[in-house]
Amino acid sequence: MRTIIEPFRIKSVEPLRMTTRDERERLLREAGFNPFLLPSDAVIIDLLTDSGTSAMSAEQWAAMMRGDEAYAGSRSWYRFEAAVKDIFGFDIVMPVHQGRAAERILFSTLCKPGDVVPNNTHFDTTRANVEATGATALDLVIAEGRDPTSRHPFKGNLDVDRLRAVLAEHRGRVPVCMLTLTNNSGGGQPVSMANARAVSALCREFGVPFYIDACRYAENAWFIKMREEGYSDKRPIDIARELFALADGCTMSAKKDGLANIGGFLATRDERLATRERDLLILTEGFTTYGGLAGRDLDAIATGLYEALDEDYLRYRIRSVVWLGERLLEAGVPIMEPPGGHAVYLDARRFLSHVAPRDLPGQSLVVELYREAGIRAVEIGTVMFGRPDPATGEEGVAPLDLVRLAIPRRVYTQSHVEYVVEAVTNVWHRRDAVRGMRFTYQAPTLRHFTARFASL
Ligand code: F0G
Repeated sequence: MRTIIEPFRIKSVEPLRMTTRDERERLLREAGFNPFLLPSDAVIIDLLTDSGTSAMSAEQWAAMMRGDEAYAGSRSWYRFEAAVKDIFGFDIVMPVHQGRAAERILFSTLCKPGDVVPNNTHFDTTRANVEATGATALDLVIAEGRDPTSRHPFKGNLDVDRLRAVLAEHRGRVPVCMLTLTNNSGGGQPVSMANARAVSALCREFGVPFYIDACRYAENAWFIKMREEGYSDKRPIDIARELFALADGCTMSAKKDGLANIGGFLATRDERLATRERDLLILTEGFTTYGGLAGRDLDAIATGLYEALDEDYLRYRIRSVVWLGERLLEAGVPIMEPPGGHAVYLDARRFLSHVAPRDLPGQSLVVELYREAGIRAVEIGTVMFGRPDPATGEEGVAPLDLVRLAIPRRVYTQSHVEYVVEAVTNVWHRRDAVRGMRFTYQAPTLRHFTARFASL
């Protein structure tokens, strides 16, 4: 059969409330034109994020009923620890309530002012947690990764030559180097095994710990299976094991490829480091066998980490995202090519080519998608990563202005995605009438969450 179907059927449904254009117009104004400030009840198709929004399986719900809520040493914890060790191969596992807690514990243990942390591209919380320690976050993705039209199969790869130069220049001041799988801020693009191997070897040469941001490890493993020579016969779980064997540790948000609604972990092979990290874990997350999670959450994750590696699931997952990307390309809509693993990213700079980058084309496009059809997306560009110049107040623009249509896992059907295609195409046809935006309020860090805007 050529048709790839959702490899599941639906047992429980959640009604969607339809809104009118007038209602959406009023809600947009009340939300300061920031979709983060909209009530989800007024969103028809929610593509804000693939994080924590997965539909859990019957097996996961059953696992939740087995959850053991003991404060210390619960059965759920042992199942969680066993699953993480089996797939990721690290001896030491610390549960956390979500990915950024792992980041905070890792970076506040390792980094100090003046340090430099390289990554292919830091995600927003990763960058913020590095910068909160006084260290500098450096994005070293390959040049193709910044070119929305390049069809390079592994656009998430880190530029190894630039990494070598950074490690040589900042010798002794690089406490950790990271690779984000897949590269979320750069379009959900995968990293190849060869690149992970090269980064790992270089880190070893310079004595720098190598960590993986593992959020979308299963989707990245699928791309390696599909695109990298020598991997087509390997199982995703074996590809994942091979990847993590290259690393000294990882941070993980189980809200993505853990197929869970909350949770994550920090893992390492370094007992001395872990001793310091556990103190921080207990201080704010909780005891070392639950880390801010209920026993039932640990069980849902232990099950979800394996389900995310299922080949039928991954084939459907990646194909359904590509399908959305292909329909948009057919309609002439500029997107980050090729489509990523968890999302299609509209290229707002080409989509609204008459809006200058400092006039926030990504934000304008996000607003139009909601206005048009009640679709919520997120800007990944100047709003998220730009900074006003301290002297002039002039907006410093990000390398790309993207609008991410993130696809929650196992949640929407093909007709939902067809609705999205129609909405984006409608906005594309009336794009010349869309105006830019400006900030009316912004917080000093992670400004995109709470910012407010006005139309120009
Ligand atoms: N790293 C990456 C690559 C991420 O995409 C995220 C979250 C995190 C770390 C932090 O994890 O949210 O569990 O604290 N990304 C979400 C998103 C929020 O929408 O892409 P968290």
